[in-house]
Amino acid sequence: MMSSFVVNPMPLLDWNIAWQEALKKRSHDRHDSEHWNKRAASFAQNARKSNYADHFIRLLTPQPHWSVLDVGCGAGTLAIPIAPLVQRVTAIDFSENMIALLNAHCIEHGIANIHTRVTSWEDDWSLAGIDQHDVAIASRSLVVEDLRTALTKLDSRARHRVYIASLVGDGPFDRRIFDAIGRSLNRGPDYIFVYNLLHQMGIHAEIRFVFNGGGNKVFHDIDDAFEQFNWMLGTLTPDEEHNLRRYFEKHLCKTRGGWTLAYKHTVRWAVIYWNKEQ
Ligand SMILES: C[S@@+](CC[C@H](N)C(=O)[O-])C[C@H]1O[C@@H](n2cnc3c(N)ncnc32)[C@H](O)[C@@H]1O
Repeated sequence: MMSSFVVNPMPLLDWNIAWQEALKKRSHDRHDSEHWNKRAASFAQNARKSNYADHFIRLLTPQPHWSVLDVGCGAGTLAIPIAPLVQRVTAIDFSENMIALLNAHCIEHGIANIHTRVTSWEDDWSLAGIDQHDVAIASRSLVVEDLRTALTKLDSRARHRVYIASLVGDGPFDRRIFDAIGRSLNRGPDYIFVYNLLHQMGIHAEIRFVFNGGGNKVFHDIDDAFEQFNWMLGTLTPDEEHNLRRYFEKHLCKTRGGWTLAYKHTVRWAVIYWNKEQ
């Protein structure tokens, strides 16, 4: 007797719904514009010290005739180094403080080809006058409820290419510290959700990983280390504070100019990109 195989049709996972479910399980609150307003100055300072932008721009290969849209631009981590390499950059972000820092930098350094706007992913970009650019970028800023709508929106504003940089695993969060203070960590969905949803949308993207190098942070003392990890941990309970102090006492070691963690914390980002002509 011939054996016959019954092939069950695979239930198709909707990656937009999977993204939303994973977002709900995140162990930290959604970050609104107020959160980013408070973090703007320190984020800008740290982003400038890192070599993330160099890695990203090497993949981007900017062309002098390009117009570039940078969504969730922050204080200009990418917009500032890209501006001299292209014709013009439109940089948008929902944090007024990020945009104010970018504007101040442009004035101070005589940069005339970055146009900024306080606009969110969720706003009506047509009303905000965000038209098509040669290249559209969303670098580490794709934190939205409706991923499919955001990807469609970004894609629609690009004539030639789209670039997205997305979290890999825990991203910049140091799990060892969470374990040490007894707090659970769930960073929510990472790049693989973005990549799979793009596939479901018929977009077959390239992917490269870049490393946030540049060496460990240097702290003046333990109090400074507490302050510099505040963005990651927020308010600590007395127990958590006690455990974190013990952790620092154990893992901080003397370096030139202060103290640093004795181990290297490497952060990876996934850069996902595609040509519109595919
Ligand atoms: C991690 S920073 C990345 C900044 C910059 N693109 C970079 O790669 O360094 C995330 C940025 O996205 C912005 N952002 C987050 N959610 C946003 C939203 N819904 N609409 C617009 N901007 C948003 C934040 O204000 C912040 O400036």
